[in-house]
Amino acid sequence: MRDPSLRRSVALFRAFMREQTDPEHCYSLLARDAAQQVEKYVPLRGSTVVDVGGGSGHFTEEFRRRGAQSYLFEPDPAELHAGERRPEGAVVADGYLLPLADGTADVCFSSNVLEHVADPQTFVSEMVRVTRPGGLIYLSFTNWYSPWGGHETAPWHYFGAERARARYQRRTGRPAKHTLGENLFAVHIGPTLRQVRARDDVQLVTARSRYWPFLAGAITRVPGLREFATWNLLLILRRCPT
Ligand SMILES: C[S@@+](CC[C@H](N)C(=O)[O-])C[C@H]1O[C@@H](n2cnc3c(N)ncnc32)[C@H](O)[C@@H]1O
Repeated sequence: MRDPSLRRSVALFRAFMREQTDPEHCYSLLARDAAQQVEKYVPLRGSTVVDVGGGSGHFTEEFRRRGAQSYLFEPDPAELHAGERRPEGAVVADGYLLPLADGTADVCFSSNVLEHVADPQTFVSEMVRVTRPGGLIYLSFTNWYSPWGGHETAPWHYFGAERARARYQRRTGRPAKHTLGENLFAVHIGPTLRQVRARDDVQLVTARSRYWPFLAGAITRVPGLREFATWNLLLILRRCPT
């Protein structure tokens, strides 16, 4: 599917709406889409790709299918085993402290993890450390004021995280998976862009909405509006030569 295009965005949105009932379809489609986005910048065949916080391994599997040597690092064994199949050669490891030498990866990839870490700057620094000079960093996250910022409690997070959690429990009879300040954090687009731009070890190649069919880059340049309308920020960074 062409990116950006209305057809692609609709297909992703439809798959996402069925995420609970058909996670296989949803995450396989998302993985194909993300791999295609990476391949706009670097061929995957023959590349070493590190997938940080890769969950049950759909992305790693897709990178391998396209000829990459891809390695999955995931701190939560429950997430690793959430899919239908167990990803081969996965490593239980935290993104803050990856068991990798400096400059190992041609591509360091992280999809929808940044909003789950308490210290996003340290997380990004570790991604940069394991990427070789000239290598690519794919970093995407859902920001807090996105309509999906509250995850399963969205869009009620706009009325407060606690209230949204209580509502979720009332409606479903079970506690929400995410608690703000514990395993979900309010990450914002403006401050993240400023932090990334202030770094001297990476060059910002692209900042865009990951899913939007049009104005995907322009939307991230409008302070205020971007916090709501970007939905999910995709940053493509290149590690500076040392
Ligand atoms: C929403 S899931 C995203 C999974 C997958 N990357 C995707 O896009 O579908 C968030 C993942 O981040 C992982 N995670 C949370 N804290 C992490 C950390 N400090 N380092 C690496 N991964 C982490 C979680 O275990 C979980 O698998």
